[in-house]
Amino acid sequence: MKKTVLVSGGAGFIGSHVTVELCNAGYDVVIADNMSNCDETNYNGVCAILGKKLPFVKMDFCDRGAVEKLFADYPIDAVIHFAAFKAVGESVAEPLMYYHNNLVSFINLLEVARQRKGGCNVLFSSSATVYGETDRLPVTEESPRQSATSPYGNTKQMCEDILRDSVRAYAGIKGIALRYFNPIGAHPSALIGELPRGVPNNLVPFITQTAIGKRECLSIFGNDYPTADGTCLRDYIDIVDLAKAHVCAVARMLDGRMKEEYEIFNVGTGRPVSVLELVNAFEKVNGLKLNYKIAPCRPGDVVAIWADPTRANKELGWKAERSVEETLAAAWAWEKHIAGK
Ligand code: UFG
Repeated sequence: MKKTVLVSGGAGFIGSHVTVELCNAGYDVVIADNMSNCDETNYNGVCAILGKKLPFVKMDFCDRGAVEKLFADYPIDAVIHFAAFKAVGESVAEPLMYYHNNLVSFINLLEVARQRKGGCNVLFSSSATVYGETDRLPVTEESPRQSATSPYGNTKQMCEDILRDSVRAYAGIKGIALRYFNPIGAHPSALIGELPRGVPNNLVPFITQTAIGKRECLSIFGNDYPTADGTCLRDYIDIVDLAKAHVCAVARMLDGRMKEEYEIFNVGTGRPVSVLELVNAFEKVNGLKLNYKIAPCRPGDVVAIWADPTRANKELGWKAERSVEETLAAAWAWEKHIAGK
């Protein structure tokens, strides 16, 4: 029988790409989203890519009754939980809003999921931000977590711990946390992608918006870091590759192949890329010149972080496949699509 996967936050950037890959792999998907940080563009794009309308429930996971109703209405075998606030700066300004939203929604989900007849599998979308600044690179899942530098980062650590402790205590649930490095790009169809509200915080949307003329100039935050070209190093992971890691992880849970009841995997390429390298690759692959300047360092940025993805490669049978160039071409095609060009 087909298994059903609930994707909370399924109308967002990562959730929409994961939904497409889950459906391609033969799962039934239910999307639930409160639409607090997105519009219907990605949901419509998902339906266009798949050629069918997917079940969509507009709801807030902070509403316990709504979560109970969702589980009563659909035979949910696994949940992938994306529904959360994600802006670092905003979390510093509004910590209570972040703690309330990101923790209460996840606790509600776990409380309901654990009581489901037959149990439930929970995949939590975590972040490389839990590693903080570290000089032992690349980072493995065993690398120590540093204390979080923002309430947002803290909610990622806390939710990981809540999942770990719940899995230990309650027979009904199993859990996986995926720690993403820097997800970028868009679906090759250019029908779904990243849609930041207002001025983008992240590098790639800022690059594409500058290239299309929405922003005047990209600021490169710092060029005297102790790296080869002086700019920060990150592990940029293609969004479709990232989405496929979720399918592998869900299959591992549903097929009973987990080695422990709670598992953590890094989802990255293992390849460090500097800000300047990324900008140059974008210019080259898309045949354009980007207006950029060197600006002061951004407070809170770590100098360098990239993944050791060995565990995901071996255990999930997953590997990042797309090149940075392919990914940046897809990001640009998406920006042009949303600009109607
Ligand atoms: N950068 C610029 N100019 C910009 C935006 C970013 O030079 O306009 C640089 C940053 O300084 C950094 C790199 O590009 O060196 C990547 O920055 P992003 O904001 O795209 O990504 P981060 O690595 O800062 O963010 C990641 C995740 C977040 C998470 C954060 C925590 O994407 O979800 O780490 O530190 F919260």
